[in-house]
Amino acid sequence: MSGRADRVIRPARRIRGRVQVPGDKSISHRALILGAIAKGRTRVRGLAPGDDCRTTRQCLGALGVSIGTSGTDHQFDVEIDGLGLGGLRMPGGVLDAGNSGTTARLLMGVLAGHPFRVTLTGDSSLLRRPMRRVADPLVMMGAHITTTDGCLPAIVEGGRLQAISYTTPVASAQVKTAVLLAGLHASGITTVIEPAPTRDHTERALAEFGVPVAIDGAGIHVTGGAPLRAADMTVPGDPSAAAFWAAAAAALPGSEVEIPHVGLNPTRTAFLGVLERMGAQIVADVTDPRSSEPLGTLTVRHAGVGPVVIVPDEVPGLVDELPVLAALATHGGALAVTGAHELRLKESDRIAALVAGLRQLGADVEESLDGFAVNGTRRLSGGVADSAGDHRLAMAFAIAALGARGWSTIRGADVVSVSYPGFFEVLEGLCQ
Ligand code: S3P
Repeated sequence: MSGRADRVIRPARRIRGRVQVPGDKSISHRALILGAIAKGRTRVRGLAPGDDCRTTRQCLGALGVSIGTSGTDHQFDVEIDGLGLGGLRMPGGVLDAGNSGTTARLLMGVLAGHPFRVTLTGDSSLLRRPMRRVADPLVMMGAHITTTDGCLPAIVEGGRLQAISYTTPVASAQVKTAVLLAGLHASGITTVIEPAPTRDHTERALAEFGVPVAIDGAGIHVTGGAPLRAADMTVPGDPSAAAFWAAAAAALPGSEVEIPHVGLNPTRTAFLGVLERMGAQIVADVTDPRSSEPLGTLTVRHAGVGPVVIVPDEVPGLVDELPVLAALATHGGALAVTGAHELRLKESDRIAALVAGLRQLGADVEESLDGFAVNGTRRLSGGVADSAGDHRLAMAFAIAALGARGWSTIRGADVVSVSYPGFFEVLEGLCQ
């Protein structure tokens, strides 16, 4: 997973081409987990090929679920023999979620509904990330969870759950999903109320598995005990992966990139609006409006890079794209972000490590408690930027480095395999 290999990035004049990005990571985790607790064989085409979703597969395997795989990183398909609601088996050892917060938090929700004791752990990055936000509502529902000062390793002992109505203190799709997954195993109607809308893949996927989800205003309701029926799903390309190519095309004069079969779920595409505000030309063509996850072809062209301000309300919709938007701003624009304290709780402290890495490349960046400001009027010199073991930072630094005067090195670049194996090879193919 997170290694220490370096990668040299040469400046590029422009990028041009057509790229099929890997399957959506968020949707893939959900497809795997819902497939595991459905009855019968679920088929998923185009699953995310990265380390995080492999971790979810391995954890589900340890819980007794048989998952067959076929294809390559470019077209990776799985068949999951689901064990039915409440049918997971006690694993023989500790469950290791590796670098993946989504794996750990979503599995906690499912394990809360199973009457056995499991220890859940992760790598050094995941051991620093907050788990109380998930454990608290699950304990309210009746699970026994012991964390290590609010973090992993955690011992989860599930059992009979009571439905709750829960207002999440943070806008987090992972917390929402954990509670809804526990709600499937509870008696009664479980409600989650969010302070701001977050990605709605769980709600859409549950409908695909035959479990209706009622939504009114900010309230999302699921009725416990309803069996999930196996599904046949195709995962669209990951818009958060597409964001790297979109930003690179927006950054470099003369660039154009086309990304077919990419997810265009409105809870994930706020970054496209920001790219437009910065000056890029965007065409997002929804090709299959009837599919449960909107998808289509995205085309991005350079047309100048201007300044933009991100206000706190926008952050939940952009949370994974803020690093690459910062990278884009170093190409002559400017970006000011506030209300993004959540970034400090991701795979790295994404405010500190983003600011440090961009500075190592020669950028003018200011850090604040809950955000940062990039002033991109000075061209980057190039330098050695440390990924801090964070896949999105490694890729964001590469996009910033394309505009530098000299060559750059990304330290710990192989961490991109968490979400985008082959990222640097694709980058080489696009650069001119
Ligand atoms: C995810 C939700 C987001 C996001 C993460 C994936 C998901 O985290 O940052 O990469 O799949 O639900 P939070 O919901 O905790 O902000």
